[in-house]
Amino acid sequence: MDRVSLPALERNRQVKDYICTHFSEDPIPMQNALKASEKAGLKEIQVPQNVAKMLYMFTLLVRPQRILEIGTLGGYSTLWFAKALKGGGKIVTIEMEKAHAEVAENNFALAGYEDCIELRLGKAQEVLQELIDAKEEPFDLIFIDADKESYPLYLELSLKLSQSGTLILSDNLIPKRGEIGCPDPRDNEALAIYEFNQAMRDHPFLESHVFPTIVGEKGRVDGLGVSIVR
Ligand code: SAH
Ligand code: DHB
Ligand code: MG
Repeated sequence: MDRVSLPALERNRQVKDYICTHFSEDPIPMQNALKASEKAGLKEIQVPQNVAKMLYMFTLLVRPQRILEIGTLGGYSTLWFAKALKGGGKIVTIEMEKAHAEVAENNFALAGYEDCIELRLGKAQEVLQELIDAKEEPFDLIFIDADKESYPLYLELSLKLSQSGTLILSDNLIPKRGEIGCPDPRDNEALAIYEFNQAMRDHPFLESHVFPTIVGEKGRVDGLGVSIVR
């Protein structure tokens, strides 16, 4: 019998489990990074394995020389980017919490990536402005995954650090709460995310889409933003 009666979420969870088991098992350094992050008491809000593998695949496609990440946490997603660089290229990752940064730096060193990853400690808005003011070379791939209220600002600043062909990825484009596409006007995170979605869709220099992802223990649907700078 077709098990159509399975609640949709349970089915999503099974799809996620299947993909994680068969296509996106964590390599040892990523497993170790997650263990160290948990031990240090970091919140488990890194991208799930299936989304990490998407970041990795996009990075292999783009072959970036320079990657910018906004929101490091314990460095789990950073390690996936580093793996895709295969020794060629550089990652700048921004984190404001010293405790997170310390765990991440340690994880980078243990994985042997300390030379290709530069962690910038500070508020993303300020570090991004510093990068712009210093006329840093543009980045080829940018991953936005920090505080949701600032996503619209991060898009603007990211564009100033981009060039034609830059790929801008963005996590969590489907807010947890509220009606889809119609956030509670008091929910600032959700409002900002939908504002970001509209901005990336309507921006004259961007070609954008939202790829559905399955996240969390329950198999909720979220979205990964994919924008190409024209
Ligand atoms: N990209 C990581 C997860 C990042 S979680 C991964 O998938 O493995 C979001 C991180 O952004 C947290 O560590 C949080 O401390 C950091 N953060 C939140 N607001 C920030 C801000 N304004 N500036 C810099 N970092 C910020
Ligand atoms: C949460 C998840 C995320 O991917 C993130 O970047 C921030 C928060 C969360 O589940 O709370
Ligand atoms: Mg996220």
